[in-house]
Amino acid sequence: MEVVITDRPEHVMADIVTNAVAEGATTLGLATGSSPLATYTELIRRHREDGLSFHGVNAVLLDEYIGLEPTHPEAYARFIRDNFTDHVDIGEVHSPDGMNPDFRGAADAYDALIADLGPVDVQILGIGSNGHVGFNEPSSSLTSRTRIKTLTEKTRQDNARFFDSMDDVPMHVITQGLGTISDAKHLALVATGEGKAEAIAAAVEGPLSASCPASILQWHRHATVVVDEAAASRL
Ligand code: GLP
Repeated sequence: MEVVITDRPEHVMADIVTNAVAEGATTLGLATGSSPLATYTELIRRHREDGLSFHGVNAVLLDEYIGLEPTHPEAYARFIRDNFTDHVDIGEVHSPDGMNPDFRGAADAYDALIADLGPVDVQILGIGSNGHVGFNEPSSSLTSRTRIKTLTEKTRQDNARFFDSMDDVPMHVITQGLGTISDAKHLALVATGEGKAEAIAAAVEGPLSASCPASILQWHRHATVVVDEAAASRL
């Protein structure tokens, strides 16, 4: 695992994506949350000003809330369009179906879709303050596939800032599993700020353990953790 400590995490992350696209990447794995936002802004800038093209590249999203229409302002399908994919020339953008009452069928279909697209070339990741990736909360199986998960109280509290009230934060989600995520050729995790320092220390230097789902990066053949000084402060 490579750990990059930098005052411009979004540039390092955007370089990883830019290089992958230049080398022929066809599938990008995208994450939501605030952590990758600056990376998306930098990629949009490169598209507009430097001619970076995503032509021939498709995207898959990590996760989605159960029960939110894809057009809901806080649905991740909507978030990624608003903040990235609508602003570049990327191809199809896929996300797990959080509205399908056949949860198992929707999850299996998403894994099959990712398998059909071929391995994800670069999977962008954030990290939850409790070490979750996607919506794989602590105790998630390290080899899990896409499935329904119940959010922890901590994650619902962390994400309540995006909703009108805590009551509006969905209880359930559909997320790529840790095994699904690990199938990507390159995992690139970005974290900034003191609030992520403990989770980053556990992910990078703690044991490989389901108690910190992000520790799966330790056994991945190509993983990069991009952090600022604050997020690296407990390493
Ligand atoms: C959510 C997402 C994760 C994200 C995490 C951290 O729960 N499902 O993919 O990494 O939150 O979010 P943020 O970057 O806003 O701190």
